[in-house]
Amino acid sequence: MSARKPYVGGNWKMNLNGQQAVELASQLADGFTAGDQVQATVFPAFTHLEKVGKALDDKNSPIQLGAQDFYHQPNGAYTGEVSIAMLKDVGASVMLVGHSERRHVIGEPDTLINDKVLAALEAGLEVILCIGEKIEQREADKTHHINTGQLGYGLAGVSDAQMARVTIAYEPVWAIGTGKTATSQDAQETHQVIRQALWFLYNDDIANAVRIQYGGSCKPSNAVELFSQADIDGGLIGGAALKSEDFLAILQAAANSAGVPA
Ligand code: 13P
Repeated sequence: MSARKPYVGGNWKMNLNGQQAVELASQLADGFTAGDQVQATVFPAFTHLEKVGKALDDKNSPIQLGAQDFYHQPNGAYTGEVSIAMLKDVGASVMLVGHSERRHVIGEPDTLINDKVLAALEAGLEVILCIGEKIEQREADKTHHINTGQLGYGLAGVSDAQMARVTIAYEPVWAIGTGKTATSQDAQETHQVIRQALWFLYNDDIANAVRIQYGGSCKPSNAVELFSQADIDGGLIGGAALKSEDFLAILQAAANSAGVPA
């Protein structure tokens, strides 16, 4: 058991229509009663943010609203992009940055990821910075190089005080949406290295306080084991976040890992 409050995010990616998103939010609001023990955020598509936020607010849910992406410039000629102010305006308070699908499918470089981290923190928001190695990097024994590198780049210029609003999500790319989960021992080993890197970059207090989520085919059947590891403080969930029953079970596993029933 650690002093860190477990944190579970539901990344809905490019899924669900508006009605399904509202239904899911409403079911989660009904089922999640452990807000004191577990922090929870859902990340719907941009077009659903406002209505999902309303569905959560209508039930006074502690579940926070997050955005999957944004552009770091305040306004201007950036066709197709959405600013932080626009997202705050519809109630988003958490920003996902550096997700592997943005890094490897859309092609976002570390410099842009760092710009986004800094802009979101300067706007007073919380950030989940995602990092993770690809299968060929793992097989070439580069797992820790990649993760500590992405961590250092992503956090460049982030102050000690701002780190109170940063969570790290370790998402091995080969485990995302594949059904392959890192073993809890492998995940724990990498989380421990990430925490050591935070110690190098910052200090003992910050390294001990920052939550590190695991993501990659996390589901009710493996969440208990993963969340029982010393350096795993919850999860960032994709597929299993789209079913209220599964996501609520994962939230319960996180609550149990804190030693308190949901
Ligand atoms: P899956 O849980 O579907 O593997 O996705 C994980 C993820 O990418 C969360 O951001």
